[in-house]
Amino acid sequence: MASIYKALVVFFAVAAALLRGGHAHGKDHAASVHDVTNSTLRGLAFVNSRGFHVNLRRCTRVVAEGLGIHAPAASRNTDGVHVGHSRHVRILDSVIGTGDDCVSVGPGSVDVVVSGVTCGPGHGLSVGSLRKDEGEQDVRGLVIRNCTVKGTTNGVRIKTWPGSPPSRASNITYEDIAMANVTNPIIIDQRYCPHDRCSDADKVTPPQGRDTSERSQPNRIRLTPWCVRPQPSLVQISDVTFRRIEGTSSGPLAVRLLCSEDRPCTGVHLDDINLTCGDVPCRSELSNVRGALAPVVAQAPSPAPAARREEDDEADVASRVTEQLGRLTWWLPFTVRG
Ligand SMILES: *[C@@H]1O[C@H](CO)[C@@H](O)[C@H](O)[C@H]1NC(C)=O
Ligand SMILES: *[C@@H]1O[C@H](CO)[C@@H](O)[C@H](O)[C@H]1NC(C)=O
Ligand SMILES: *[C@@H]1O[C@H](CO)[C@@H](O)[C@H](O)[C@H]1NC(C)=O
Ligand SMILES: *[C@@H]1O[C@H](CO)[C@@H](O)[C@H](O)[C@H]1NC(C)=O
Ligand SMILES: *[C@@H]1O[C@H](CO)[C@@H](O)[C@H](O)[C@H]1NC(C)=O
Repeated sequence: MASIYKALVVFFAVAAALLRGGHAHGKDHAASVHDVTNSTLRGLAFVNSRGFHVNLRRCTRVVAEGLGIHAPAASRNTDGVHVGHSRHVRILDSVIGTGDDCVSVGPGSVDVVVSGVTCGPGHGLSVGSLRKDEGEQDVRGLVIRNCTVKGTTNGVRIKTWPGSPPSRASNITYEDIAMANVTNPIIIDQRYCPHDRCSDADKVTPPQGRDTSERSQPNRIRLTPWCVRPQPSLVQISDVTFRRIEGTSSGPLAVRLLCSEDRPCTGVHLDDINLTCGDVPCRSELSNVRGALAPVVAQAPSPAPAARREEDDEADVASRVTEQLGRLTWWLPFTVRG
């Protein structure tokens, strides 16, 4: 087992390979698949990696299928499969449960298909996080379909950091996804800022200007400037479709589309969404989403939504969409709270 695994740890600059069967168990291990072309990883198992379990970086035409990846729900940063700076990648028919994203598709990813993945526990099937660092490339052409997500904090998600410099994430389709007990089934989060330092940072009133160094805050850990004073993300998200997504949410917010004030999301389509939220109404939360949203299928007849507060022109884009969705809000039973 160890020797098979060691061959996996660094899988570098390989073309036309098939790696089949194998099992890796252990805290320090992860499969780094870098600069690999025209290759397949099949039938591999990974347990309790310390970091990402399978990291596909600068790969072209790589298929990962029949993987089993398992780590405790509380383990941090243990993404199942991460894809970055890669093209024409397929992640198929795998079972992934970790303490972080089951699959994360990061910067520079083009034409990635994720299909037949069962995800949970974990943080869901994610695009991002985008633009944590300078010089990241765009993400485009992703299809995530025929997946089951259970007992996770997020279902399908796109996340970008606040203050992130410009880039684009476009042509992303999530379809035929079954959710079971997922806290945020559908979420775009352009203020993604995990870890305590961000909430701490909100309490800081930084001095005007850029200097947020230890000198001015001697007793604080050094904070990334955008966390000290969150700025809108400059990642433009466009042409995102959520289609045929059904199942149960463990929280009341079934759909959260929280886009950037500076770069409203465009071309977001919600189509055939059928989620229940236990015995309370499912709600949606939208900000800075531009363009028409396709109808959301209501599972149960909905009472008239609460009167909407129409805000000033500033909220124009968001409120117009909210209103549209409001007519279609679906109100359903809810059993799990908090
Ligand atoms: C990978 O496959 C593609 C198309 O099948 C081919 O054009 C390309 O030369 C291959 N690359 C390598 C490095 O084998
Ligand atoms: C959907 O995924 C399951 C595995 O979860 C697989 O068995 C099935 O063949 C897939 N169906 C399609 C239409 O791809
Ligand atoms: C969107 O992405 C899919 C999957 O990579 C691709 O087949 C399709 O051509 C793309 N569409 C556009 C308009 O780029
Ligand atoms: C749903 O998930 C929560 C954690 O998010 C867990 O505490 C609860 O037991 C789960 N409920 C079911 C019915 O699986
Ligand atoms: C919504 O999903 C439930 C099962 O969760 C199903 O019984 C119902 O028929 C679905 N409704 C629509 C309109 O698809």
